[in-house]
Amino acid sequence: MTALTTGARASAVGTAHTRVEGRDKVTGAARYAGEIPFDGLAHGWLVLSTITRGRVLSVDADPVLGMPGVLTVLHHGNAPRVDIDYTGMLGMPPDPTIAVFQHDRVPHAGWPVALVVAETSEQAREAAESLVVRYEEEAHDVTFPGERPDASTGPGPGGPGATEKGDLEAELAASAFVLDAEYSTPEEHHNSMEPHAVTALWDGGRLEVVDSNQGTVWVADELAKLFSLDPASVRVRSEHVGGGFGSKGVRAHQVAAVMAATSLSRPVRVVMTRRQMFSLAGYRSPTTQRVRLGADAEGRLRALEHRCLSRTSTVHEFIESGAGPARVMYDAPAHHTENRVVELDVPSPTFMRAPGEAPGSFALESAIDELAEQCGIDPIELRLRNEPEVGPVSGLPFSTRNLPACFREGARRFGWADRDPRPGVRREGRWLLGTGTAAASFFAGAAPSTAAVTAEADGTFTVRINAADIGTGARTALTLVAADAFEVPTDRVRVRIGDSDFGPAMIAGGSMGTRSWAWAVTAAAGELRERLSLGDGIPPEGITVRSDTTEAVGALAQKERHSFGAQFAEVAVDVATGEVRVRRMLGVFAAGRIVNPLTARGQFTGGMIWGISMALHEEAVRDRNTGALYGADLAGYHVATNADVPLVEADWVDDPDPDDPVGIKGIGEIGIVGAAAAVANAVWHATGVRHRALPIRPDRVL
Ligand code: MOS
Repeated sequence: MTALTTGARASAVGTAHTRVEGRDKVTGAARYAGEIPFDGLAHGWLVLSTITRGRVLSVDADPVLGMPGVLTVLHHGNAPRVDIDYTGMLGMPPDPTIAVFQHDRVPHAGWPVALVVAETSEQAREAAESLVVRYEEEAHDVTFPGERPDASTGPGPGGPGATEKGDLEAELAASAFVLDAEYSTPEEHHNSMEPHAVTALWDGGRLEVVDSNQGTVWVADELAKLFSLDPASVRVRSEHVGGGFGSKGVRAHQVAAVMAATSLSRPVRVVMTRRQMFSLAGYRSPTTQRVRLGADAEGRLRALEHRCLSRTSTVHEFIESGAGPARVMYDAPAHHTENRVVELDVPSPTFMRAPGEAPGSFALESAIDELAEQCGIDPIELRLRNEPEVGPVSGLPFSTRNLPACFREGARRFGWADRDPRPGVRREGRWLLGTGTAAASFFAGAAPSTAAVTAEADGTFTVRINAADIGTGARTALTLVAADAFEVPTDRVRVRIGDSDFGPAMIAGGSMGTRSWAWAVTAAAGELRERLSLGDGIPPEGITVRSDTTEAVGALAQKERHSFGAQFAEVAVDVATGEVRVRRMLGVFAAGRIVNPLTARGQFTGGMIWGISMALHEEAVRDRNTGALYGADLAGYHVATNADVPLVEADWVDDPDPDDPVGIKGIGEIGIVGAAAAVANAVWHATGVRHRALPIRPDRVL
């Protein structure tokens, strides 16, 4: 052992650590993608269609080309061609919305039709707003009607489109209790604090992209494919990211910026406006879901059916897999799930935090609560009676499934034992009071990643890994993981992230980022420690070891791997105004080893608060006539604000993943899962009225 490692020291993983870049962020020293200066920077402004369906007849560029500072106008008549016939890093074809200015078709409102580039952002905006685009308009259909005969079943990110075992009708007929209910959730948007922003430039034959994204290799890979470039000649950096939530992959603005940088031979920056994000950043589809449950006299499920219909664009299929949670949570002799989608003249939806699970758990966990009411069984007890032995659809054993421990600990802390199960009987002045609970789950996986670790001559360690810290605290979590792996204090570890030159790595997505990166860091650090233990001196350039976890991750035994959680909410409902106030929330999670309790708690409570928002506030409303959104901004699109958020507590039970070198499972998305159902179930307990359509607006309560 060299003097560089101390061998015996307390674990950094599991101790609260403030963000290593926190000071830089609060002092403004941390620069975000739209703030980094470049010599000769030009600014692009996207022009989006004002019609919902039809054709661009002309883009009258000449008048704006004469305006101050204007450098070029790119549109379908002059833009370079790109190749979209490929499969991206996530195994999906690209959303053709990113292939800007390739044809004259307009498939939805807010479709990018031009990019105006000028010396300053203000000049670009002025010219963009002056640009006359003439259209031939066609009739559009944006109405999401619930069930439609033309809806198709397809594979979503949650697995196959449909799963089926057992005779559903026979089991329902033989059930002592049957629930048949329809639930709906509206179009919802993830609109991160930092808007999408990119700067593209050619530098010495390389395409350099400074961006705000959830994975630089993801973006680099797709840009290389779109522009038919050698992947080695594309570098994407993304050092600080102000939120992503699934929206920050490859989008129209990056492609437009690369086109402009190529044609002007200058660095070009394109920033989406808040309103443009409502058209171009993706969103969560509305859903209508039907759940049928049949149970025996003891509340054991005989039949479970969960069918989810969502909506996609006419150019790209993205399915919101609301029926996914049922494939993990509950088993029954007859078990049917199905995700279907209809194509409408709307922007393409995309991954939005806990895709599938967030709306799916609202329906399923509301239905379980309704069944518990019918059976006269406590809703926690009903869930415990229906804990499956193995994955209900996969038949695989669970890696760990500590959902009962979450409910026991949560019930104890929330005071569930004292709960009067009768609805609508607790009054406090003008408020009716109630409590509710729901279960949560989210897939816990790991994906191949590479890392490079260096023992520096000064006794410090440098980690280079292409991670993305989208606000989660990933950089800090990896610092703790690396410190433990090197067996040194955290102040001797420097973690560098967000650079495609660091090599391939998992994106910040699917709740798999930190786990996948920590695995690669741990593997490289272990090998480096072995090298150092040979006693070689460290040369001035340091000693660097690289890891690639492709084989290790691929060798993971086939198991159902999920994080679990129990959500609790207490609400007060004003029967005169219909206002619902959440009074407190508690979430207890079994989500693997928790790396940094400080930032982990923030992620859990952030998700739970988003659940409050989903339950009570969020709803993007599309105008049938224009095909566009009403109030496509953060004034019109309501989200929970500080005044809506009461005491929200999150905690966890011990649940290390036995197959992970650090014991991590992943916590990125589970916080929102079940949260809206817990609130909705509490509203029923307060009022005696079920709300099966979100959000639970005052006018719906009255
Ligand atoms: Mo997430 S919706 O995988 O960023």
